[in-house]
Amino acid sequence: MLIFASNNENKVKEVNALLHGIMEVISLKEAGIMQDIPEPFLTLEENATTKSATIYQLTGRDCFSEDTGLEVQALDGRPGVKSARYNEEGVFGSNIDKLLFELKNKPNRSARFRTVISLIMNGKEFQFEGICNGQITEAPKGHGGFGYDPVFIPDGAKVTFGEMEMDEKNQYSHRKKAVAQLLNFLKTTYGKN
Ligand code: IMP
Repeated sequence: MLIFASNNENKVKEVNALLHGIMEVISLKEAGIMQDIPEPFLTLEENATTKSATIYQLTGRDCFSEDTGLEVQALDGRPGVKSARYNEEGVFGSNIDKLLFELKNKPNRSARFRTVISLIMNGKEFQFEGICNGQITEAPKGHGGFGYDPVFIPDGAKVTFGEMEMDEKNQYSHRKKAVAQLLNFLKTTYGKN
């Protein structure tokens, strides 16, 4: 059993759907940890490591965390690691409003979601990365998913993540790719499946 060091219900749902019947994962809440873990660093890698290390110190149990950012080409990779706090000055209505404003009249709408997973297994850390390339739309579409989902069309799809059911999003998603690597590692290194 692994603790997934996240308080984000959407992420917990997505990861549980991916691991259902393969591996038992419990959320921070289910592990009785109510603490919010800060994400103060300049890279997804450092944030992910801090989260898993904190939970490992608190519980002494195998665990993993993830940090995700939306990296937009025309914005030199912003909002990236700051994706959750992009609109922290509160000048725009939402993170999406700020993103669409910054991309106004920019023909290059290429972007990618990047997820970094930090696993702590038997006291050692391992990292896995998942990337989903796509395009930012001119306007939000759909009410599914969370975060930037309504403005992101993954390569190979015709609709935004916000217009997809979770299972469809999971066919393309950055998080799914990182989780697949995590599973492969657990299988090959520890014989878990
Ligand atoms: P964090 O990994 O919880 O720090 O999330 C960073 C930001 O990216 C938050 O604003 C999330 O809403 C957003 N985000 C993370 N994963 C996804 C996703 O799969 N789709 C859309 N937005 C996401």
